[in-house]
Amino acid sequence: MYKEYSNVYVNSHPLVQHKISMLRNKNTGTNEFRKLIEEIAMLMGYEALSDLPLEDVEIETPIETCMTPMIAGKKLAIVPVLRAGLGMVSGITALTPSAKIGHIGLYRDEVTHEPHEYYCKLPSPIEQRTIVVVDPMLATGGSAVEAVNFIKQHGGKKIKFMCVIAAPEGIERLMKAHPDIQLYVGHVDRELNENAYICPGLGDAGDRIFGTK
Ligand code: URA
Repeated sequence: MYKEYSNVYVNSHPLVQHKISMLRNKNTGTNEFRKLIEEIAMLMGYEALSDLPLEDVEIETPIETCMTPMIAGKKLAIVPVLRAGLGMVSGITALTPSAKIGHIGLYRDEVTHEPHEYYCKLPSPIEQRTIVVVDPMLATGGSAVEAVNFIKQHGGKKIKFMCVIAAPEGIERLMKAHPDIQLYVGHVDRELNENAYICPGLGDAGDRIFGTK
């Protein structure tokens, strides 16, 4: 729970915190950074998917037949916000190989820092799926709000948003715009700077995942 928001889950697992600290280090290279993002996504995904519905199915063990729980249906969609969100996809699909994957492309206006859509492709139908939107950095919250807007416009209902690091400003903005979603955060940082970077943060997540500058 974060402040008054019972639907904001801030991770406190030592492994997640340790890996986030490694991400922050400016000397962590692209290869290691990518692996860490993937591992964190997997560890956080384990928590975020803890409410997936189960149904009892009949299984024959070597000893006898029994009714035993399995995930009900294949109704999960992972939606990375391009491009940094792509780095988190493999970590979650390692847990849920049959999940469908949508994409939302947003770019940030350099001056206003506001997001603009350039691509959106979601699995259809989306209405009955649990949708996990992933983006490592929740900064101003502008992209996150837009991404969830698009998903809702397409009919998405059960939406979770997962980020590695969040600024308090981003959490507030996302919660004000979409109080009905669940937000999973690896760590809440201090603040945004004048360029809308998270402090202390880890720099530009997309550049560090893809080795660009
Ligand atoms: N996006 C990033 O990649 N890093 C930040 O600090 C803020 C937004």
